[in-house]
Amino acid sequence: MISINNVTLSFGKQVLFEDVNLKFTNGNCYGLIGANGAGKTTFLKLLTGEIDTTKGEIVIGKGERLAYLEQDHYKYDDNRVIDVVLKGNTRLYDIMMEKDKLYNKVDFNDSDGIRLGNLEAEFSEMDGWSAESDASELLSNLGIPIDTHYNLMKDMPNNLKVKVLLAKALFQNPDILLLDEPTNNLDLEAINWLEEFLINYSNTVIVVSHDRYFLNKVCTHIVDIDYGKMKLFVGNYDFWYESSQLLIKQIKEQNKKKEDKIKELKDFIARFSANASKSKQATSRKKILEKIELEELVPSSRRYPFIDFKIENSHGKDILSVKDLVYEEDGKRILDKISFDLQKGDKIAFVGTNNIAKTALFNIIMREVKYNRGEVLFGKTIKPSYFPVDNTNYFNKNLSILDFLAQYGYANDPQALRSFLGRMLFSNDEVFKKINVLSGGEKARVMLSKMMLESPNFLILDEPTNHLDMESITSLNKGLINFEGEILLASHDHELISTVCNRIIEILPNGKIIDMRCDYDTYLEKRKD
Ligand SMILES: Nc1ncnc2c1ncn2[C@@H]1O[C@H](COP(=O)(O)OP(=O)(O)OP(=O)(O)O)[C@@H](O)[C@H]1O
Ligand SMILES: [Mg+2]
Repeated sequence: MISINNVTLSFGKQVLFEDVNLKFTNGNCYGLIGANGAGKTTFLKLLTGEIDTTKGEIVIGKGERLAYLEQDHYKYDDNRVIDVVLKGNTRLYDIMMEKDKLYNKVDFNDSDGIRLGNLEAEFSEMDGWSAESDASELLSNLGIPIDTHYNLMKDMPNNLKVKVLLAKALFQNPDILLLDEPTNNLDLEAINWLEEFLINYSNTVIVVSHDRYFLNKVCTHIVDIDYGKMKLFVGNYDFWYESSQLLIKQIKEQNKKKEDKIKELKDFIARFSANASKSKQATSRKKILEKIELEELVPSSRRYPFIDFKIENSHGKDILSVKDLVYEEDGKRILDKISFDLQKGDKIAFVGTNNIAKTALFNIIMREVKYNRGEVLFGKTIKPSYFPVDNTNYFNKNLSILDFLAQYGYANDPQALRSFLGRMLFSNDEVFKKINVLSGGEKARVMLSKMMLESPNFLILDEPTNHLDMESITSLNKGLINFEGEILLASHDHELISTVCNRIIEILPNGKIIDMRCDYDTYLEKRKD
């Protein structure tokens, strides 16, 4: 059980939540929801003890263990799969690392020997010798092929990557499992798998997600973070949505009735207060009027950014031509002699389970990765802009949002940049926030802002809806429908693909492609046959 007692958390002037009192009881699955930047990840970090409350305390049941699947699925990219799981047991992993270091030490001395003895003792007490095989068994149980257990994380397809991160969390045998947006990067099949897993999992789960279908399937409770408050609802996402809408409707109706009454009273008072025979009635109505109070409708932090990609320079008829492209990684063929040409107005969805190939292709087109053979040619007038699936390299700097974006537009007009940022939901002091502390969704919003400032006539987007809340996804969807240039898009969002794209390229597991000029639903129909 977790008790949240009078907890307040603020970063400088920004108060994320105030005086929160909540209890998470055993065996339930809690969906933690709220707009991008509301404080969901921060709340999970409070639970794990990674950060401290500003006020109040968090009490976790005695002896109860917590495990955490973080929002950043790329964090362990340079580690081997097996090591990621072992890292789940922090102490054991630290011992293994220190032991390795000592065994490899050249000037090994007596005190090193004593230290090593102690480490070995602790290691065997923790059943360290079977840890690796336990980790491997856990991975296999989650459906990760045994021949990939010693691969680097960055070589794992996204579906499996999330399973490895889940294995890392489960390796600690937790009583409480915390999951931060686990369905990002997952396709439908993998999401179904995770849903089944969570439905059958008997310990407590707290899961952050923007995916309402997923939340409906797995949650017994919803915790909503909005405007500094955290509210607990019993039931799934739809139930939360309906009850919160109902509450707003009731307040509006009551307020409307009160406003009508106020008007009626005011009219009466205005008409009759000078009238001697009715002045007594007018005075009593004044008293009634004073007592009527309108219920406050708390504003929501859920807002729509304004996403609009304006083309400055339209382009000629040569757009992009890919010819016999071959790309290999560690001797494995990822893209096998693929060719396609773009025509004006093409908005292509890249689909298929092979996300490594999709990302590689986008990186090759953007000249970020070298290919083995073939040709990739942009038309001379094409000005592309890229939304990479992993944006770590952009955000590990100590720059403010304002300074970061000034590199891409309005460099000499901070006022104009600030009003642009206001439309992207960064207002007032928020523009001075450092980009390395932004939430997942805020980073995505900054990337989209960067792309808008670049005034591209060609967009490449790799899983742009990951991390975004529903309002931002809706705005992005509109922006992409309205965009007049060409688009290459990889996404798991059915609605986004089917409303934006007019051509589908499927990358097959063998690295070849199927290219179809039709919308997504037609493609799905045809694929069934
Ligand atoms: N170390 C920090 N210093 C200052 N501000 C921070 C820090 N960490 C987070 N923030 C801010 O706190 C807010 C909440 O961040 P958090 O990551 O918890 O949001 P979130 O609800 O998980 O959003 P998302 O849905 O986008 O993942 C954001 O506005 C973020 O910029
Ligand atoms: Mg988050």
